[in-house]
Amino acid sequence: MSNRSEFERVVFDNKFRVLLTREQIEARTRELGKQISTDYRGKQPIVIGVLNGGFLFMADLIRHIEIDLEIDFIKLSSYGDQKVSSGRVEVLKEINAEISNRHVLVVEDIVDTGLSVKALEKKFSVSKPASLRFVALLRKTEKAKVHFDIDYVGFEIPDHFVVGYGLDYKQILRNLPAVYVME
Ligand code: IMP
Repeated sequence: MSNRSEFERVVFDNKFRVLLTREQIEARTRELGKQISTDYRGKQPIVIGVLNGGFLFMADLIRHIEIDLEIDFIKLSSYGDQKVSSGRVEVLKEINAEISNRHVLVVEDIVDTGLSVKALEKKFSVSKPASLRFVALLRKTEKAKVHFDIDYVGFEIPDHFVVGYGLDYKQILRNLPAVYVME
């Protein structure tokens, strides 16, 4: 058995195909930040990052948003060691912010079946925010089980399991700077 790390296998052994380079991600994130800055001009939104996968995108995105904003995080259960959704969404860490009457923008890494965003919309709506929007870096177009309009989408991607730039496989590979397709 090889003692190379998964990281080395991905980056150096060409076992995985690059789907989005760091330059593509950076350019699209800049565009989204610009659009969000325009749309929220005069408001002070609470930007809520969905952990763990959304942390890198959130960190890069808010640096391209040129208005006052606050941040918070919510943590949802991941797929665990599976590559497919269990269909259950569990909250592992709640937000601390009071969101009623506030403009809320939720930052997701990827929308796959749509169950997570749907569950978050239901949960946050209870607090009656002034507005509730979603931004996702990636959306698997063909995959959505539940119809859900994402307000801002970075990239529409085919139905492949992807890793890197925050997205994990068995909790590793989040630190890859680009997005790779795992065959
Ligand atoms: P959904 O509820 O099925 O839309 O799944 C959303 C969550 O599943 C995302 O926030 C990710 O954490 C995880 N996920 C979905 N697809 C992938 C993937 O291709 N790679 C890694 N994680 C994924």
